[in-house]
Amino acid sequence: MLSGLALWLPLLHSAPALAQAPDPLAFDAPHKHVTASAGQTNAVVSYTLTNVSTAPVIIRDVALSCGCSVANMPAKPWTLKPGEHGQVTVTTDLRGKRGSLLKTAIVYASSGTRVLTYQVDIQEPSTPEERARNQSLAKIDRQAVFRGDCAKCHAEPARGKLGKELFAVACGICHEAEHRASMVTDLRMLRKPATRDHWLQWITHGKPDTLMPAFTAKAGGPLTDTQIHSLVEFLSRK
Ligand code: HEC
Ligand code: HEC
Repeated sequence: MLSGLALWLPLLHSAPALAQAPDPLAFDAPHKHVTASAGQTNAVVSYTLTNVSTAPVIIRDVALSCGCSVANMPAKPWTLKPGEHGQVTVTTDLRGKRGSLLKTAIVYASSGTRVLTYQVDIQEPSTPEERARNQSLAKIDRQAVFRGDCAKCHAEPARGKLGKELFAVACGICHEAEHRASMVTDLRMLRKPATRDHWLQWITHGKPDTLMPAFTAKAGGPLTDTQIHSLVEFLSRK
């Protein structure tokens, strides 16, 4: 009993010394949780990293637990100066997957290794009857997708998101669906290359008498001007 305590004492003494070296790299959250619609081909999660120390931190690489995921960072290696922040984006291919996925991203930095996790919950697909009903409701009013029950999948996931992440939930839900309906255009195969103005007009106003809704809040859509511009930026860069 006593000898056990004696063994532990030196360890207890060294504990405060360990606590004095805080991690120079701060994350907005070490765990992320996103919901994907059935048929969504990609889920995107972003982590914001901030160098909270007074010395540069070099991020050498981000390794992922799944061959189905790709990490994007501003540079490789990536140097974060003191006080600087930036994003690591992880894109996971959801094709052929169902249910709930729990994945790991390991950040290798000059300050040490950090393990991040993320969970993707994939919703159950709609039945053919539900889908037919949704399509006929949208034919009567293309803005219906943003209201009532429809909002749960077509509007709420967009809240607070920007760029690539926003595209996956707001646009990918129709345009990148695994079993895309025939009237939904393939945005990767446009007949003429799209300009910034083309994207801006389509996202803002959609097209009357089709199933393409207007996303601007001014027309009852779910997106702010800032969100729309982040999409134009993302799509023009592709
Ligand atoms: C549970 C999530 C969910 C809800 C709720 C939902 N949708 Fe959808 N919607 C989807 C998905 C996923 C797709 C992509 C096609 C697919 O896989 O079914 C889609 C596609 C569409 C399309 C494109 C045409 C097509 O069928 O591919 C329209 C139009 C549409 N939804 C309208 C609506 C309307 C209107 C409502 C509400 C009455 C609604 N949706 C409710 C998930 C949902
Ligand atoms: C509810 C399903 C749905 C959603 C959500 C949706 N679209 Fe569409 N979109 C359509 C349909 C249907 C068309 C075809 C319209 C037509 O018949 O001309 C279309 C057409 C387009 C076109 C025209 C393509 C061309 O040049 O012919 C663009 C661009 C476009 N969508 C961009 C987007 C973007 C960006 C988003 C996300 C902000 C988005 N869409 C979200 C259904 C959808």
